[in-house]
Amino acid sequence: MAVLSLRSLSFVCCLLLITNFTTQASADNSPQNFFYFCDDHNNGRGNYTVNSTYDTNLNTVLSTLTSNTEIDYGFYNFTYGENTDKVYAIGLCRGDVKPDECRNCLQHSRANLTQQLCRNRKEAIGWYEDEKCMLRYSDRSIFNLNEIGPAYFMWSMLNATQVDQFNKVVKDLLDGLKTKAKSGDSQSKYATASVSGPDNRTIYGLVQCTPNLSGPQCDDCLVQSIKEVSHCCNSRLGVRIVRPSCNLRFETASLFYGTPAYPPSPSPSPSPSQPLLMPPPSSTVTNNNSSGDKGNASGPSVDIIPLLLLLLCSFFISV
Ligand SMILES: *[C@@H]1O[C@H](CO)[C@@H](O)[C@H](O)[C@H]1NC(C)=O
Ligand SMILES: *[C@@H]1O[C@H](CO)[C@@H](O)[C@H](O)[C@H]1NC(C)=O
Ligand SMILES: *[C@@H]1O[C@H](CO)[C@@H](O)[C@H](O)[C@H]1NC(C)=O
Ligand SMILES: *[C@@H]1O[C@H](CO)[C@@H](O)[C@H](O)[C@H]1NC(C)=O
Ligand SMILES: *[C@@H]1O[C@H](CO)[C@@H](O)[C@H](O)[C@H]1NC(C)=O
Ligand SMILES: *[C@@H]1O[C@H](CO)[C@@H](O)[C@H](O)[C@H]1NC(C)=O
Ligand SMILES: *[C@@H]1O[C@H](CO)[C@@H](O)[C@H](O)[C@H]1NC(C)=O
Ligand SMILES: *[C@@H]1O[C@H](CO)[C@@H](O)[C@H](O)[C@H]1NC(C)=O
Ligand SMILES: *[C@@H]1O[C@H](CO)[C@@H](O)[C@H](O)[C@H]1NC(C)=O
Ligand SMILES: *[C@@H]1O[C@H](CO)[C@@H](O)[C@H](O)[C@H]1NC(C)=O
Repeated sequence: MAVLSLRSLSFVCCLLLITNFTTQASADNSPQNFFYFCDDHNNGRGNYTVNSTYDTNLNTVLSTLTSNTEIDYGFYNFTYGENTDKVYAIGLCRGDVKPDECRNCLQHSRANLTQQLCRNRKEAIGWYEDEKCMLRYSDRSIFNLNEIGPAYFMWSMLNATQVDQFNKVVKDLLDGLKTKAKSGDSQSKYATASVSGPDNRTIYGLVQCTPNLSGPQCDDCLVQSIKEVSHCCNSRLGVRIVRPSCNLRFETASLFYGTPAYPPSPSPSPSPSQPLLMPPPSSTVTNNNSSGDKGNASGPSVDIIPLLLLLLCSFFISV
C-alpha cells in the first residue's frame, strides 16, 4: 500500500520534471521498464522525415546492429551513410547478459524507440529492463565521447541505519569497482563485486563504462556518478546512476547481476617473472555465502526494494 502510493508519487515527480524539459523519460512501460530520452530540436538534431535517406540509413544501421551474431562481448558500434545522413549507433549490454539475450534486448529497444517513443527523432537513447541493454543513435559521432547526460537516478526508499559505516563501505566498494572497470579493454569495461556491510548485510555493486572510452574517460564518468551518490542518494540502501557513458548500481542484500557473460580477455602481456599460478582476483573484495553474511539477509526478502525514481536531465552534455 505504502509502496504503491509512493510509486505513484515518484511517477508524478517524473512527469513534472519532464514537462519542464523537452526530453522524456518513462518508467513502467509495461511489461518491463524502459527509460528513454528523445533528443529535442534545441540540440540541433531535430527530426527526420519518413522514407528520407536518414530514415533508410537508420534502419540499415539498427538492423545490422541488432542482427549481428559475431560480436560476443556485448558492445556494438556501427555507422552507416554519408555526410549529414550518416547515422551512428551504439548498443551496449550489461556484462552478464549473453549475446542472444543482448540482441533480443536491443531489438526491443529499437522497436520501442523508433516505432513508438522517439518516432522520427534523429537522436535517441533508451535503457531496457534494469539496464540490461542500452541503445543509442544519432547523426553526430557518439563514439569516444564521455557523456554524462541525459541520465536517470533511482534509489531505494530504505535508508541505512549505520549511516557513516554504510557510506564508507559503499564508497570503497564503488571506488574499487571503478578502478577495475577503467582498466578494462576496448571491448569491456565492467566490474561487479560484493562486500559485507553493516549488520553483516551484503552490498552488491556493479559499474560499467562504454568500452570504447579510454580508461581516464571511464574514470571521469564514474567519479561523477560516485560523487552523485552522496548528493542524491546518501545512505540509501540501493542506488542506480545511469548515464550514456557509464552506469553504476548497488543494492543491499539483493544480488541483481549474474555471472559474466563472456570471459575477460587475456591480459596483454603477462610478465615472465610472474608465477604461472595467478593469485585470485583481488582488486575488489568479494564475499561468498560462507563468509560473513550468514542466514537470511541475502535471500529474497523485503529488502528487494521498490525503487523510487527521480530523474535529472542534463541534456546531451559532452564533457
Ligand atoms: C520533432 O517531432 C516531435 C514529435 O513529433 C515534435 O514534438 C517536435 O516539435 C519536432 N521537432 C522539430 C524540430 O520539428
Ligand atoms: C514510405 O515508403 C513506403 C514503401 O515504399 C510506402 O509504403 C509509404 O507510403 C511511404 N511513406 C511515406 C510517408 O511516404
Ligand atoms: C516496446 O517494448 C514492450 C516491452 O517489450 C513491447 O511489449 C512493445 O511491443 C514494444 N513496442 C514496440 C513498438 O515494439
Ligand atoms: C531516508 O533519508 C532521506 C534523506 O536523508 C529522508 O528524506 C527519507 O525520508 C528517509 N526515508 C525513510 C524511509 O526513512
Ligand atoms: C567499435 O568498437 C571497437 C571496440 O571498442 C573498436 O575497436 C572499433 O574501432 C569501433 N568502431 C568504430 C566504427 O568506432
Ligand atoms: C556479524 O557476523 C559475525 C560472524 O558471523 C558475528 O560475530 C557478528 O556478531 C555479526 N555482527 C552483527 C552486527 O550481526
Ligand atoms: C574507439 O573507436 C575509435 C574508432 O571509432 C578508435 O579510433 C578508438 O581508438 C577507440 N577507442 C578505444 C579506447 O578503443
Ligand atoms: C566463492 O565461492 C566460489 C564457488 O563457490 C569459490 O570458487 C570462490 O573461491 C569463493 N570465493 C571466496 C572469496 O570465498
Ligand atoms: C549461495 O547460496 C545459495 C543458497 O544457499 C546458492 O544457491 C548459491 O549457489 C550460493 N552462491 C555461492 C556463490 O556460493
Ligand atoms: C532472519 O533474521 C531475523 C533477524 O536477525 C531473525 O529474527 C529471523 O528469525 C531470521 N529468519 C530466518 C529464517 O533465519
